[in-house]
Amino acid sequence: MEEERFVDAGMQSDDISLENSLRPHNLKEYIGQDTVKESLSLSIEAALKRHEPLDHMLLYGPPGLGKTTLSAIVASEMGQNIRVTSGPAIERPGDLASILANLNEGDVLFIDEIHRLSRSVEEVLYPAMEDFAIDIMLGKGPTARSIRVAVPHFTLVGATTRFGQLSAPLRDRFGMIYRLELYTPDQLAAIVTRSANILKVKGTTPDGMMEIAKRSRGTPRVANRMLKRARDYAEVRGDGTITRDAANAALKMEGVDDLGLDKTDRNMLLTMIDKFGGGPVGLDTLAATTGEDAGTIEAVYEPFLMQLGFLMRTPRGRICTLAAYQHMGRIPPVSLQGQMQMSMDEV
Ligand code: ADE
Repeated sequence: MEEERFVDAGMQSDDISLENSLRPHNLKEYIGQDTVKESLSLSIEAALKRHEPLDHMLLYGPPGLGKTTLSAIVASEMGQNIRVTSGPAIERPGDLASILANLNEGDVLFIDEIHRLSRSVEEVLYPAMEDFAIDIMLGKGPTARSIRVAVPHFTLVGATTRFGQLSAPLRDRFGMIYRLELYTPDQLAAIVTRSANILKVKGTTPDGMMEIAKRSRGTPRVANRMLKRARDYAEVRGDGTITRDAANAALKMEGVDDLGLDKTDRNMLLTMIDKFGGGPVGLDTLAATTGEDAGTIEAVYEPFLMQLGFLMRTPRGRICTLAAYQHMGRIPPVSLQGQMQMSMDEV
């Protein structure tokens, strides 16, 4: 892993150095995503036994769940180097051709935001994935011809927050497709406890860690960021131990409520409730009224609100649930109150 080359910087530099220091280095250290880990470790063992590169792999799911981390782990478990880049960074077919030609045998090529590759760049990728070759055009017009040039056997790990935006031909060329799930509070508590040890935090309490875990929208990146804020708070206002109170105070300062909703989550729910009677409301309408990007709503905000049971996706649009009304302190419409009555009758 000495030769890791990080080309793309999608996150703030603070995030990158924090994430790098807290990143688990092998599957054993990696907490959560158990189904993915199990399947992955089997495939890695098989590929190692056959002395072959691992099949191409696609990771998708909301941001901050460990797609980059997992790809680095795959490379290290395979005993290979990783080359990191991203869809928007590869502008022309020639850029990708040059990356591919410069790989070493067995390398892992990680392409973040792979859904943002242009069609012409994708076309270079197809023969590279299938036949480990690229077609280079010589000349122009009627006399143009193409020659096939071999590239090293590599493993492509593609990552995306927008599975639906991936073209079908690209999707079909991945041998393994994994969806990363939001983490449970227990898993996040274990992650921040591990991170606190690495960061040499003076002390932590289990309920302090759980408080951060419960309010980190199911996302290790958010949890680790909150851990740092709680550490600041504990060091300045307390004795350095991250207790439940220290975690609470730090989260409050960050504008995160007791269930982990931030300003945007709350604005989305209130917009749906106050302007659209709780829905159904279409994604684009919601985006236009809240001023958020539709893709970000879909990839970042909705998964967490759905995990909390505050929002449902229906064919007619998004709707708020009774729980959302209650959390936001709004009176639910009669239709939802009826549902509450029915469910209480059933009990
Ligand atoms: N840090 C960030 N994500 C992690 C994970 N899934 N397991 C362990 N440590 C982590």
